[in-house]
Amino acid sequence: MSENEKRILIVDDTPTNIRVLVPILMDHGKFQINIANNGLDALKLLEKIVPDLILLDVMMPDLDGFETCKRIKNTSHLKDIPIIFLTAKNETEDLARGFELGAADFVSKPFNSVELIARVKTHIELKTNRDLLKTRLEKLVHERTLQLENETSEKLKLKDQLMQSQKMEAIGQLAGGVAHDFNNQLGGIIGSAELIRYNTENEKILKYTNMILNAAQSSANLTKQLLAFARKGKETNIPVDLNKAIKQISQLLQRSMDKKIKIVHNFEEMNAFTLGDPSQLENAMLNISINASHAMPEGGTLTYRTYLKELEDNDISQLSRGTYAVVEINDTGTGMTQEVRERIFEPFFTTKGKDKGTGLGLSATYGAIQQHSGAILVDSEIGEGTKFTLYLPASSEKIQNSANTVDSIPDIKGCRLLLIDDEEIILTTAKEILLQLECKVQTFDNGVDGIEYFKDNHSEIDIVILDKIMPEMNGHEVFKELKKIDPKVDVILASGYSEEQAQEILNDGVKTFIRKPYTISLLSKEIAKLLSQKD
Ligand SMILES: Nc1ncnc2c1ncn2[C@@H]1O[C@H](COP(=O)(O)OP(=O)(O)OP(=O)(O)O)[C@@H](O)[C@H]1O
Ligand SMILES: [Mg+2]
Repeated sequence: MSENEKRILIVDDTPTNIRVLVPILMDHGKFQINIANNGLDALKLLEKIVPDLILLDVMMPDLDGFETCKRIKNTSHLKDIPIIFLTAKNETEDLARGFELGAADFVSKPFNSVELIARVKTHIELKTNRDLLKTRLEKLVHERTLQLENETSEKLKLKDQLMQSQKMEAIGQLAGGVAHDFNNQLGGIIGSAELIRYNTENEKILKYTNMILNAAQSSANLTKQLLAFARKGKETNIPVDLNKAIKQISQLLQRSMDKKIKIVHNFEEMNAFTLGDPSQLENAMLNISINASHAMPEGGTLTYRTYLKELEDNDISQLSRGTYAVVEINDTGTGMTQEVRERIFEPFFTTKGKDKGTGLGLSATYGAIQQHSGAILVDSEIGEGTKFTLYLPASSEKIQNSANTVDSIPDIKGCRLLLIDDEEIILTTAKEILLQLECKVQTFDNGVDGIEYFKDNHSEIDIVILDKIMPEMNGHEVFKELKKIDPKVDVILASGYSEEQAQEILNDGVKTFIRKPYTISLLSKEIAKLLSQKD
C-alpha cells in the first residue's frame, strides 16, 4: 500500500450493496478495500487491520451496525477511525442513535456516487489531519517535558550547590567563633607557661612546663586549622611556586610514607605560580597527600600533575574567568562512597578511628583554597582511587626568598608599653612577660579607659599593643582615637585572625600585626623592631 493509499473497510451483509460500492470507490481514488459480511467478521478482521475509514451497514442480522459501532468505539486503538453508516431509510431516530454512538456520518441507499465519494474523502482527510496534529502535539509535549526535566535537574543541582556552600559558611562561622575564643585562652596558657619557664631552674618544673607548652602549641595548631577553615587565615600574599611546594611535600612524604607508595611528578607547567601563603598551600596539599597515603595501605601511586587552564565564567561555580594554576593529586587507593565524598570538607568529619583522625585536615584545606580565591574538586570511585583538583588563580610574579625568623629574645629593656585587651588572661600574662623583660607596662581591659590614660600620658608611652576584636570599642576605633592624640603613635595590633582581616586598620597606619597566641620571642622581636625604627 503506498503512503497515500487509504484503507477502507466495508461491512455489509448484502452482496448487491458491495457490488455497487466497490466500483464507485475504485473509480474515484486509490483505496485498499477490505470487506466483512457481518459485524462479527468485521470485529475479527479489525484485530489484524486498522483501516482509515469504515462503511458500516446499519441493518445486519446478529450484530447490527449500531452494536458493531459501539464495540469498535470501545476499543482504544480503533476508536478514532471514522465510521460512516450505510442506511436504507433516512430516519432521524437512526441518525440520532448513530451519532450518539460516535458515527462520523451517514450515507443512504441507493448510493449517490458523488455524495458518497465526497463524504468518504472528507472523513479520510479529516482523520489524516487529526492524526498529523496528534503526532505533532505529542512531539511538542515530549520535547517540552524533556526540557522541563532538564531545567528541573539543573535547578536542583544549583540548589544543592547553594545549600552545600551555605552549610559550609555556617559551619565556618561557628568554627571561627569558637577558635577565636579558644585562641585567646591558649594565649593565656602559653604566656603563663612561658613565665614559669623563665622563672625556674627546677628541672622537674621545667619539664612539666615544656609539656604544657607543647600541648598548648599543638592546640594552637588545631585552632589555626579551624581558623583556616573559617577562611580567616591567609597571612601572606607572595608568589608561591606550586611545583616547588609539591617537591618539598614529596620529600617529606617519602621519608614518612610506606615505601610501597610510588610518587610521580607530572609537571606540565614549569611556571605554576599563585599568589598567597606558601605554608598554607603546602599544608593544604600535604593534608590531601597524607589522606591519599592512608587510602593506599597496600601501596599504590600518588601522582601530582600541574598545568595552566583558562576558565570562562561559570566553568566552575564560584570561579570567575581567568588563568588558573591547576594541581591534581591522584591516588590509586580505596576511593570513597558518595556519602563520604559529600561530607569530607566538614570539620571533624572523619572515617578514621578515634585518635587516628581529627577530621580537620580537609576542612582546613578547603578554607585555605577558598581563601586563595580558588576551588577544590574531588572525584572518587570505590576501588578506583581519588583525585583532588585544586584551581588557584595563576600568577606571573616569581618567588623571592624571604628570611626565616630566629627564635631569640631581643633586649627591649626599659620600653614603656600600653596594653589594651578585653581578655583578662591575656592582659595578666602579657603584662607579666613584659615585666620579665624589664619593660614598663600599663594595662586596660577596654579602649575607653586606655584612651583616657593615653591622653594624659602619651609622652610616657613608646608602644601600644592593641587587641583587634573587643566589645564596645574595637581595635580600629581605639587606634583612630589614639592617633588623634598622638599622630605618631606606634601600635602593634594583636589578633587571632589573619593579617588580611586586619588590612583595613593596617592601611590606616598601624605598623605591626601580631598573630595570637603570641610567644615571648615573637612579641619582643616586634617591639624591638619598632623601637629600632624610632631612633
Ligand atoms: N584520598 C582519599 N581516599 C579515600 N578517602 C579519603 C581521601 N581523602 C579523604 N578521605 C576521607 O575524608 C575524610 C576526611 O578527611 P580529613 O583529612 O578531613 O580528616 P581525617 O584525615 O580523617 O583526619 P585528619 O586529617 O584531621 O587527621 C577521611 O576520614 C576519609 O574518610
Ligand atoms: Mg586527613
